[in-house]
Amino acid sequence: LPKVSIIGAGDVGASIAYTLQLSGLATEIMLVDVDRDRALGHVMDMNHGLFFTPPAHIAAGDYPDCSGSDLIIVTAGARQRRNETRLDLVQKNVEIIKDVFKRARAFIGSAKILMVTNPVDVMTYVMLKISGLEPNRIFGSGTVLDSARFRYQLSDRCTIDPRNVHAYVIGEHGDSEVLLWSQVRMAGLSMEAFCGACGRGCQGETRGLIEKEVRNSAYHVIEIKGFTNYGVSLAVRRITTAVLRNELSVLTVSTLLDGEYGLHGVCLSVPCILGQGGVERIVTGTLANEEEEGLRRSAGVIGSALHQLEGIVLKER
Ligand SMILES: NC(=O)c1ccc[n+]([C@@H]2O[C@H](COP(=O)([O-])OP(=O)(O)OC[C@H]3O[C@@H](n4cnc5c(N)ncnc54)[C@H](O)[C@@H]3O)[C@@H](O)[C@H]2O)c1
Repeated sequence: LPKVSIIGAGDVGASIAYTLQLSGLATEIMLVDVDRDRALGHVMDMNHGLFFTPPAHIAAGDYPDCSGSDLIIVTAGARQRRNETRLDLVQKNVEIIKDVFKRARAFIGSAKILMVTNPVDVMTYVMLKISGLEPNRIFGSGTVLDSARFRYQLSDRCTIDPRNVHAYVIGEHGDSEVLLWSQVRMAGLSMEAFCGACGRGCQGETRGLIEKEVRNSAYHVIEIKGFTNYGVSLAVRRITTAVLRNELSVLTVSTLLDGEYGLHGVCLSVPCILGQGGVERIVTGTLANEEEEGLRRSAGVIGSALHQLEGIVLKER
């Protein structure tokens, strides 16, 4: 029976737990946080709603209670404050991720690990290095949320169900992310064909606006309400479904690249086939020149953040 543990019961961890409770995907949901009362409060609240949801054992626990998990989701760590980038969180959160691993290592068993803590590409790499686990088992939520935001923007402006929009964002989950315009499909049509048939003629100017909106989504939400939680928890639910049900879905999770697109030794989002083994396969394809350049730039941004950490992280393994 599927068991999911969530380490970090802040706004993101609690929303993920609640989203999973509604989904009925996991029969056991374990919440762990250094602030035990925070986890306990969320758990009590969710348990009070069990009459209305699929049955699940939802509990607050400590690291040993993560034993037997199919998936461990890590959301522990500081979040962006207004005007902070995700990369500004590196130092603080690396220490937290090292602490999480130290306490969790004996209880990971055969679980897959889904990193959500930002900057998620860096944290995925750090977890991979300090744990020494197989790269397919550790992945980050990456640009799954950004891809959903891209689809939402397209669907909203073109007045079409987001489920009929196919669009990916790849690269860093952050400022240098890359929107794959060359691969957008609306109702199976290329953008050119779809826009031609629509005839509103807004394509050129709208692209720039969409691009800005998607890239700055988190900044806008954080400016208004202080944090993001709903979008990310739905993205995590989607990833969790693909893994627990072995769906072999294609999702842009952050994964270690080993030669794909000519990139090595960096975790970045690219379309991956996700199943019960975690990242079953990375899907590579042809990108437009500017997209490939953008991906390389993104790898450079993450690579230099990793370079600064390398000594610290590897030393402590
Ligand atoms: N990847 C994404 O798409 C995405 C989206 C939104 C937020 N995030 C990231 O998720 C993280 C959490 O955000 P939040 O809004 O829930 O923050 P939050 O401050 O509400 O919660 C963080 C929680 O982590 C806990 N924590 C800190 N150190 C810990 C440790 N060593 N062990 C266990 N728990 C520990 C804290 O007690 C707190 O409850 C942030 O890094 C944020 O940037 C990622």
